[in-house]
Amino acid sequence: MIRAAIFDLDGVIIDTAHYHYIAWKRLASEFNINLTIEQNERLKGVSRMRSLEIILELGHIQLSEEEKEKLAVRKNSWFIEYIESIRPEEIFPGVIALITALREKHFKIALASSSKNAQRVIELLKIANLFDAIVDGTMITHTKPDPEIFLLASSRLGVPPGDCVVFEDAEAGVEAALASGMKCVGVGSEEQLGKAHKIIAKTGNFELNMLNEL
Ligand code: BG6
Ligand code: MG
Repeated sequence: MIRAAIFDLDGVIIDTAHYHYIAWKRLASEFNINLTIEQNERLKGVSRMRSLEIILELGHIQLSEEEKEKLAVRKNSWFIEYIESIRPEEIFPGVIALITALREKHFKIALASSSKNAQRVIELLKIANLFDAIVDGTMITHTKPDPEIFLLASSRLGVPPGDCVVFEDAEAGVEAALASGMKCVGVGSEEQLGKAHKIIAKTGNFELNMLNEL
């Protein structure tokens, strides 16, 4: 029986996925690469360095580790600049109500984000108190699609993977959830997230009776 819910952050709780995209697009344009929304789907959920490598592969560009490190730092400085103005009002509609309803049913709740900026975003949104556990990119060795982050969240919650449901907007995140043996609700399109157990267009569209469909 499902008794824990694990939420991704970027693109599930707030539209920070958009800020990642515009920062990467800005960097890519310096290499004359026009990063499209479709290509950007591949960057969702994976680590900062992996995102950069995907972009460089698209442009058939090879750089040293040192150069890549500098570019990743630059992209991150733009991202941090963009997110500094985010406010609690920007949390997607229905997200707090959903988490509150799950908590009332005694579900354990975790946040599992590949981002090393997750703590800052949570702080700006003032939602740390909604979670029994928060795991982020600073606490893991392998990012999504590896299941490590979700397995860590499940152990922090003390709930086995088979009793957890993950909310994810990234293809890599859906893969990670399935690889960890959890149920997965994809937030987005059937085309991108077809492997999830259930797909909803927006996080706030999820209703508790949908747990029976997983
Ligand atoms: C994930 C995003 O949440 O975090 C990815 O979906 C991003 O697009 C990853 O690359 C790492 O984020 P950060 O903030 O550590 O660069
Ligand atoms: Mg995401």
